[in-house]
Amino acid sequence: MPADDASRSARTPDPLGRPKPTVQDLLKEERVETPWQLEEAPFHDIGVAGVRAEDYVSRLFFDREIARMWGRVWQMACREDEIPNAGDHVLYEIGARSYIIVRGEDGAVRALRNVCLHRGRRLRDCPGRAASFRCPFHGFTWSLNGALKETPTPWDFPHLEAQSFSLPQARVGHWGGFVFVCFDPAAPSLEAYLEDIPAIFARWPMEERFTAAHVTRPLPCNWKVALEAFVESFHVTDTHPQAATYIGDFHTQYDVWEGKRHYSRMISPRGIASPSAGAISDDEILQSSEPGGANLRVPEGSTPRREMAERRRAHLRKTLGPDVARLTDSEAIDTIQYWIFPNLVVWWGHAAPIVYRFRPLGEDPERALMDVYLMPQVPRGADRPKPAATTELTEHQPWTDAKELGGLGAVFDQDVGNFAALQSGLRAMAGERTTLARYQENRIRHFHRVLAEYVEDER
Ligand SMILES: [Fe+2]
Repeated sequence: MPADDASRSARTPDPLGRPKPTVQDLLKEERVETPWQLEEAPFHDIGVAGVRAEDYVSRLFFDREIARMWGRVWQMACREDEIPNAGDHVLYEIGARSYIIVRGEDGAVRALRNVCLHRGRRLRDCPGRAASFRCPFHGFTWSLNGALKETPTPWDFPHLEAQSFSLPQARVGHWGGFVFVCFDPAAPSLEAYLEDIPAIFARWPMEERFTAAHVTRPLPCNWKVALEAFVESFHVTDTHPQAATYIGDFHTQYDVWEGKRHYSRMISPRGIASPSAGAISDDEILQSSEPGGANLRVPEGSTPRREMAERRRAHLRKTLGPDVARLTDSEAIDTIQYWIFPNLVVWWGHAAPIVYRFRPLGEDPERALMDVYLMPQVPRGADRPKPAATTELTEHQPWTDAKELGGLGAVFDQDVGNFAALQSGLRAMAGERTTLARYQENRIRHFHRVLAEYVEDER
């Protein structure tokens, strides 16, 4: 941008009171065309209300959430490439529901209820490959498409009609290489549910990603407590102080669009320091941004952002090929993160190939299961690598035990360090509300507003 405009923009106070530069100020320094996705910066003002503490704690709210929200939304069940061949299956569980997500002989993916219709035993206890699903108790067997295949002692079941003895199925939808399921026959299609997400991701398609790492870990808190710790950068200064020298935590842009229920976004800029870091040189910003970066220097006329982005581009050139040329600095280094309601968080662009998923663990309002995926681009011209096996950490293992997460493990351990104390604190706040920032925590407020619309719908 011309110097005059730049200095004018630097002088104009931000209407929301945010520190300068804003993400939109930083985007003016880009040297390649900025995609339309980044040029949007909506602030949908939905007030300043906090969240009822019991929504993270109470059995009543949890049961309604399971029935009315989880029972009606589209939710990510697995990646397509986890079940490439006929008979390949994984389990998807939410609350008491358990479904077998299986590839059929016809190539279609189905979600079959994982319960024998005879005496109610779960048919499958773990993922695998099968030609059919035979109950280990008495041997009732269903085909991969859910049709009854075999009845033991048919003479004793004159009352059983094979056609009406199929396994119940959930709806299945596909987007971005993900398999989604929905338990509500009356819900809109996945395409309608996702609103603008497919259009937004057309620039960096998730179907071109593969699973290089997948780690799960149980957590000692409500699933929303865990999720809400990963959708704002407000906590960086106090929870991840080592990162405040190169993440513009308070400069982060948080986007909630009026009329959009099922997604929100944040853009957290890197290569600028948090206001909490005090006076800090450009060299120090760059040096702190990567391990072993102590000798890095920002050349005259450049910025730490530009240097970080160039280093990232050099790293990505092998996988992205010529597409690396259209990568803005923001897409190369910033946390650009879409939160797809209710529980899927996907990083957009190529700063880090992270996907998070958060679910209740079993039927306990105070336990959650978090999935972390690393999903880099399939290198141009290469075959799709096989997805990495899932590492299942126990609740007492640190994330750093999952070596495939690299340096992220230590960061996640800092996040998780708050969870047990958050959960017990929320329990002590019965009848009260949390206090949320008007701007930096507006995504959380928006999420709870949509959650309430589901939970309060008694249909
Ligand atoms: Fe964090």
